[in-house]
Amino acid sequence: MLRFRHFRALTVAVFIAACAAPIGQAAAQGADAATVKRGEYLARAGDCIACHTLPAGKTFGGGRPMDTPFGTLYTPNISSDKETGIGKWTAEEFFAMMHTGKSRDGSLLYPAMPYTSYTKVTRADSDAIYAFLMSTPAVHQPNRPHELRFPFNRRELLLGWRSLFFREGVYEPDASQSAEWNRGAYLVEGLGHCSMCHTAINALGGNVKSKAFEGGLIPIQNWYAPSLTSNKEAGLGDWSLDDIVGLLHAGVSNRGAVYGPMAEVVYDSLQYLTEEDVRAMAVYLKALPARSGDKSAPPSQAAVEEKTSLSPLGKKIYDAQCAECHAAQGQGKPPDFPPLANNQSIVMSSAVNPIRMVLNGGYPPGTFKNPKPYGMPPFAQSLSDVEVAAVVTYIRTAWGNRGTPVSVKEVNELRSAPLY
Ligand code: HEC
Ligand code: HEC
Ligand code: HEC
Repeated sequence: MLRFRHFRALTVAVFIAACAAPIGQAAAQGADAATVKRGEYLARAGDCIACHTLPAGKTFGGGRPMDTPFGTLYTPNISSDKETGIGKWTAEEFFAMMHTGKSRDGSLLYPAMPYTSYTKVTRADSDAIYAFLMSTPAVHQPNRPHELRFPFNRRELLLGWRSLFFREGVYEPDASQSAEWNRGAYLVEGLGHCSMCHTAINALGGNVKSKAFEGGLIPIQNWYAPSLTSNKEAGLGDWSLDDIVGLLHAGVSNRGAVYGPMAEVVYDSLQYLTEEDVRAMAVYLKALPARSGDKSAPPSQAAVEEKTSLSPLGKKIYDAQCAECHAAQGQGKPPDFPPLANNQSIVMSSAVNPIRMVLNGGYPPGTFKNPKPYGMPPFAQSLSDVEVAAVVTYIRTAWGNRGTPVSVKEVNELRSAPLY
């Protein structure tokens, strides 16, 4: 187990080297140091750095590729550089972009820039983020043109998308709710842009049936972002506030750990927020009205047969390879080793995540609250498709878990999925 700790420490070190490029001290003209500091905090909440900085690249220099089903977008330079960044923009123009999703020259922005969420950000917060960006070192790095297939390379087509999915407007507090709930809603719906992944209408080209926070597969990346409103997925109605705070702030909790793209969200953004802000988000998330979410249909005959044939092999593999960390009855050793029994993230209708975890292994993010997380080894090399299908079927159906069996074909298809 120590071995995995060490491996994680190394990745974290590389990550930190990439992210912690020095922030210039030269405060922007007219902006006081306190505003710049607040802007830095808000930029963390908005996770601007994750998209607008290449791993190991210069902070806010852009150029990070974002794969979509329509081609590849390259994020622009948003540093204070006057020629290649946004150094010539005014605070007014910056707010207009955050609020309307239009660039300085009026062109429509692709929603891979989460302006559908950022539109909720107040003018004062937008000005603080602007002041912070202007205080960072100028990075001279020309933007790389997007590589989008026709007709998606035509920005005017976004007009139709916008009329369906974009509602402009700063967040309006709900007077019937507490100040804490409203703060949480502002962060989750606004800067946090959680709905970018946690909705089936995701901005990267998901399907369009579902409502906000109802979950969906993130295309290309092949991870499933669970519904935050269905108690069958990651609906948080029956979680304690402390467990939600733990998950979002530390990356681990008594109910499960974050992994995949969510581990990056915690690593780059949420761990930097104050305990009060994370708690406010938790209060809001816990209160989201539960929806029926995925109505699990009774398992098909084929699924029942799959389970019957795969489960005994699955149990054998589990006892030999997994029980050491996740314990004999799947109760885990939380928070270091997440439980697999009574863990929604294992049994939700899409089995993509547990299959990928077994194939690729993973580490919760190293955070201020949990600097040395334990990891899970990958099993792609040592287990065949049949064996992975068997063990995932087993953990989805043992100990009272009510998930469906997974097929050998599903496992095989996910073997070639990119890691991130
Ligand atoms: C999920 C990835 C993602 C996140 C998070 C993100 N951006 Fe962007 N941003 C993009 C992409 C992609 C574009 C380019 C969109 C286009 O070309 O239409 C963009 C465009 C922009 C532009 C327009 C630049 C120009 O030259 O037109 C600005 C300014 C900007 N982002 C600032 C921010 C700030 C500030 C934050 C944090 C509050 C942020 N972005 C967070 C992906 C992201
Ligand atoms: C880049 C895409 C992405 C963004 C942005 C994102 N999530 Fe997630 N989230 C995921 C994925 C994928 C999972 C499934 C993996 C996991 O459970 O850790 C997940 C899981 C979760 C879970 C359930 C964890 C569990 O173990 O059941 C919660 C709660 C959550 N996210 C909350 C949030 C909140 C709050 C935000 C906004 C601050 C957010 N997410 C932003 C992709 C994302
Ligand atoms: C060395 C200890 C270790 C072993 C062995 C191990 N795991 Fe894990 N497992 C972990 C840790 C730590 C995490 C949290 C990883 C993360 O968050 O990225 C985890 C996460 C998971 C998850 C995601 C659950 C969640 O909520 O985070 C699944 C599913 C899983 N393991 C299944 C298995 C199976 C099946 C096996 C055996 C084939 C196995 N694990 C073997 C340590 C282990």
